[in-house]
Amino acid sequence: MTETGLIALAKKASESAYVPYSGYTVGAALLTKSGKVYTGVNIENASYTPTCCAERTAFFKAVSEGEKEFEAIAVVGGKKGDFKDYFPPCGVCRQVMREFCGDDFKIILGKDSGEFMVYNLIELLPESFGPEFIKNV
Ligand code: THU
Repeated sequence: MTETGLIALAKKASESAYVPYSGYTVGAALLTKSGKVYTGVNIENASYTPTCCAERTAFFKAVSEGEKEFEAIAVVGGKKGDFKDYFPPCGVCRQVMREFCGDDFKIILGKDSGEFMVYNLIELLPESFGPEFIKNV
């Protein structure tokens, strides 16, 4: 799966975003190490704080289906489906990635122009806290 292919799946997914409050549609496409793709969208809530980001929706769909090994995630986002800028993952989503992914997990940000950026998780979440810090469970 190419970066561009994964971005296309994220864009397609974003059409299902539930965003009556912000109007920002976000789509994510999460690639497993075995080559499967799980998509996700942001799902907002009238009470605001229960809102779930697109990236976490994708992760929770995948993990709930038994997936635990991930290669990359593509993300697009913008007001009313206008992806003119990159839309980087929030801190909470980065922490969820940290739970399941290694330092070299790829985060691909796409925009309508066709340009994209690729980061490793370690670049977006340095000196992070993760599962290995919890030893006595
Ligand atoms: N959002 C995401 O889906 N992913 C992020 O990483 C950042 C923010 C969503 C949440 C909310 O529905 C909208 O974008 C505006 O914050």
